[in-house]
Amino acid sequence: MAEVTPTSSRKSEHIRINLYEDVQSGLTSGLERFQFVHQALPELDLDAIDLTLSIFNKRLRAPILISSMTGGTPEAAKINQVLAAAAQTTGVAMGLGSQRAGIESPDLANTFKVRSYAPDILLFANLGAVQLNYGYTVDHCQRAVDMIEADALILHLNPLQEALQPEGNTRFSGLLKKIENVCTRLPVPVVVKEVGWGISAQCAKQLASAGVAAIDVAGAGGTSWSQVEKYRAQDERLARVAEAFRNWGIPTAESIRQVRQAAPDLLIFASGGLHDGIDIAKCIALGAQLGGMAGTFLKSASKDLEETINKIQEIKIELQACMFAAGISDLAKLKQAKLVDL
Ligand SMILES: Cc1cc2nc3c(=O)[nH]c(=O)nc-3n(C[C@H](O)[C@H](O)[C@H](O)COP(=O)(O)O)c2cc1C
Repeated sequence: MAEVTPTSSRKSEHIRINLYEDVQSGLTSGLERFQFVHQALPELDLDAIDLTLSIFNKRLRAPILISSMTGGTPEAAKINQVLAAAAQTTGVAMGLGSQRAGIESPDLANTFKVRSYAPDILLFANLGAVQLNYGYTVDHCQRAVDMIEADALILHLNPLQEALQPEGNTRFSGLLKKIENVCTRLPVPVVVKEVGWGISAQCAKQLASAGVAAIDVAGAGGTSWSQVEKYRAQDERLARVAEAFRNWGIPTAESIRQVRQAAPDLLIFASGGLHDGIDIAKCIALGAQLGGMAGTFLKSASKDLEETINKIQEIKIELQACMFAAGISDLAKLKQAKLVDL
């Protein structure tokens, strides 16, 4: 029986709160402000619309990412296995949740290991970047990658979440240099993401100069970690402080715009409040390569594999139908597509 560490019991609370409480940001992603121009004569066959792409030498059947979520408990292990099997069946990418629990307690590493369920997918390891200020080194990053046979490492930035946790790790000074060191020394690509408050132009410039391979904007408009911390708060003052941040952050659409401008050559992933395949198409037209969702897939995976596969297929059909009705045959053309700003 795996020991219950503080990190893994926090993960159980996160799953429960995300499934049963209203943790939505008070903001929207901003994607609703954009529309494609409908083309009544697309001169395309729906079946011929091509959703495939390659990232970090892995072939994907659609530009969809199951965003980093969980691990560290038996329930999380089951969720990860369902998500991985669904990603393998549908040919999409997946990130694991922060693997700190698996590094702190090696007997919890199994709760993250999903390669046998998904031998072919683009798979991302995950650690909190701030851990680099609390003793973690390139070696820990390598262990996270090796633990799950990942293709790349995601480091997440979550200063506000840490500030709202009683046990939060809030020493963020000097982190950029350490991220740069990981980018230089780790043999796999390093992606940096937020967790739901977005990446600004300034932050994108800093990360690009540090040598990151991609940025996932994880903008505001979906899951709000201040809301999650509000429901975890043990005292009313902390709950009120967390509630004050419900409308905080850079909405996803705006964050993509800022990152695109600040780092035009960088690969961008987009997550934070994406609802469907049309939202993913809009993110790609705004400058992203992949669209990610977390909360949506947590809900489907907590039901079962069939529900999760169906959800991914539904998103694929929406994306394909959206491109068809906008007269766009493939992802390269989708990147060039003009959106109408309403
Ligand atoms: C239950 C849950 C756990 C999460 N844990 C992590 C994590 O460990 N590491 C991370 O980088 N992001 C984590 N996230 C953030 C997501 O990857 C994503 O960036 C964010 O939830 C926005 O997407 P959404 O609005 O589709 O949920 C988590 C999200 C959820 C819902």
